[in-house]
Amino acid sequence: MHKLRVAIVGASGYSGEELLRLLLAHPNLELTCITSRQEAGKPAGAVFPRYRECQLRFIQPDVDQIAAQADLAFLALPHGLANEYAAPLLQRGLKVIDISADFRLRSLEKYARYYQSEHPAPELLQEAVYGLPEYYRQDIRQARLVACPGCYPTSVLLPTLPLLKVALVETGGIEAFSMSGVTGAGRKLAAPFLFPECNESLRPYAITGHRHLPEIEQELALAAGVKELHINFLPHLVPVNRGIHSTILMQAKNEKAGEQALECLQQAYQNEPFVRVLGKGELADTKNVTMTNYCEIGCAYDPHTGKVILSSAVDNLSKGAAGQALQNLNIMAGWPEDCGLR
Ligand SMILES: NC(=O)c1ccc[n+]([C@@H]2O[C@H](COP(=O)([O-])OP(=O)(O)OC[C@H]3O[C@@H](n4cnc5c(N)ncnc54)[C@H](OP(=O)(O)O)[C@@H]3O)[C@@H](O)[C@H]2O)c1
Repeated sequence: MHKLRVAIVGASGYSGEELLRLLLAHPNLELTCITSRQEAGKPAGAVFPRYRECQLRFIQPDVDQIAAQADLAFLALPHGLANEYAAPLLQRGLKVIDISADFRLRSLEKYARYYQSEHPAPELLQEAVYGLPEYYRQDIRQARLVACPGCYPTSVLLPTLPLLKVALVETGGIEAFSMSGVTGAGRKLAAPFLFPECNESLRPYAITGHRHLPEIEQELALAAGVKELHINFLPHLVPVNRGIHSTILMQAKNEKAGEQALECLQQAYQNEPFVRVLGKGELADTKNVTMTNYCEIGCAYDPHTGKVILSSAVDNLSKGAAGQALQNLNIMAGWPEDCGLR
């Protein structure tokens, strides 16, 4: 059987390494190409000794070479770079799954505002399918270009979308307090992410205007059927390697609606392979999802304040990045959605 040939562009970063881990174990595909400017020429096993047996060598990120070796490319690059690869790879007939933020926003104006530059390929922005399988599965099947959601947005959207869709909660006053492990910042040297700066400490950052905010608001507004919706999104850095936890407050429409929230979530996700809605009284815990593609969701209603309180946990590098990207590939290829992800 001809195996699908797959490339990872930016395979030496944290999301790229997680993709490498998952793709090497996937039964239906062949990892044929991995790129890194700094590691070019070295075998993957030399850069990541846990894959010592892997002799596949990093190459420079050259579009022609990638296209010659692969049918589909994952882009695991810093934002702003994906288009340099997506457009020419699509032209050469490859499919592309992008993990960066470059194709997630539908509004050119918001892209320019939050990323401080004009979008280089507006036509691709229109074409790209938002890669949240639980909501865009049909479109993902047909897609040439999939834009995987950010890690924070995945943790905020999965618990909140079902409640907005059936209008159990108000669209105003939503607050999301999210906490991310340090791999969320990427595998780069920067003082705020050095071990002594993060360890034994917990800090908020980008509490106004975080780049994931417009992506979250875009999908919440679509689910609620409103033009604009604003939330308070408060990210924090916590001293763990992997994992995101979000606590989200939403005002219930009324007491009955608040009491129905948990059941609504359980129904919405009863057939989803990677969303676990917890029982009454249970809250999400990152340690139960680390190194997995699951999102766990807990839900409580507080009649004292009228708030629905949601708790969700994902692994930022898996359901928040590489795992979700592979889930999308499985859908595009027509394979079982959990292939290589259990
Ligand atoms: N980390 C997470 O939890 C997470 C979660 C969801 C989404 N994402 C998104 O996924 C993308 C990758 O994130 P990451 O955390 O894995 O980043 P990272 O650890 O910094 O890795 C970036 C990768 O891109 C390569 N690269 C950097 N600049 C390049 C350039 N100019 N041309 C070609 N290759 C280049 C790097 O290798 P060389 O420098 O050797 O070329 C490296 O392999 C980002 O857009 C990020 O926002 C990350």
